[in-house]
Amino acid sequence: MGTQKQQTRGLFITLEGVEGSGKSTQIRYLAEALTQRGYRVLQTREPGGTATAEAIRHILLTASSHEPVTPQTEALLILAARSQHVTHLIKPALRQGTVVLCDRFFDSTVAYQGFARGLDLQWLRAANKVATDGLTPNLTVVLDLPVSVGLARRRADRGQQNRLDRETERFHRKVRRGFLALAAEEPGRMKIVNANRPAQEVRDELTEIVVGWIARQRHPLRSRS
Ligand code: TMP
Repeated sequence: MGTQKQQTRGLFITLEGVEGSGKSTQIRYLAEALTQRGYRVLQTREPGGTATAEAIRHILLTASSHEPVTPQTEALLILAARSQHVTHLIKPALRQGTVVLCDRFFDSTVAYQGFARGLDLQWLRAANKVATDGLTPNLTVVLDLPVSVGLARRRADRGQQNRLDRETERFHRKVRRGFLALAAEEPGRMKIVNANRPAQEVRDELTEIVVGWIARQRHPLRSRS
């Protein structure tokens, strides 16, 4: 499990999943649940989280189809955004003993740019190590559901669609396979939650997993209350 010297005081928890898996809603619920229990919580997202990283996100999600973004440009921009995010927001928060909840992180890069776009996984891992200076999540929860269900949810919410949402269903199936393969490789760090059911049920299981996991850490964070 990725516990680095730099983050000894805080805990770094990430949420992953295909489009329409409900991550953004669930991360809000989780932040509320942990705050109510007295933890200091920072909720953030990737790509994004700082002004520069959010500017990069805007380029990534809105780039014109007249000049297609190459898979290499996509990966390098995501990694550049991550370096800003890790350096200026995530690591300082972890040093202060905060529980950092991040909507997507490096597992998304492996799933999207590796499994779906076909970039070399070894290269992605090496470049990511540079971007993160070795920071890995302590716990990752994958919200899993069939791609057709997730994409239908996104289509119902047209305003939410971005450049990557508009990729083919086949592309998104590769993304899902990527997340499931990663979770099988690292069962200690990565947990899968079935997201193909009502949001309340997903929320209850997610809260139970995360709260229980925090309580089992060797140096549990003290609640503020
Ligand atoms: P979101 O819709 O979950 O906010 O994510 C924005 C998009 O960025 C989503 O389509 C997935 C994509 N993405 C990657 O392709 N690779 C990455 O490493 C990350 C963090 C996001």
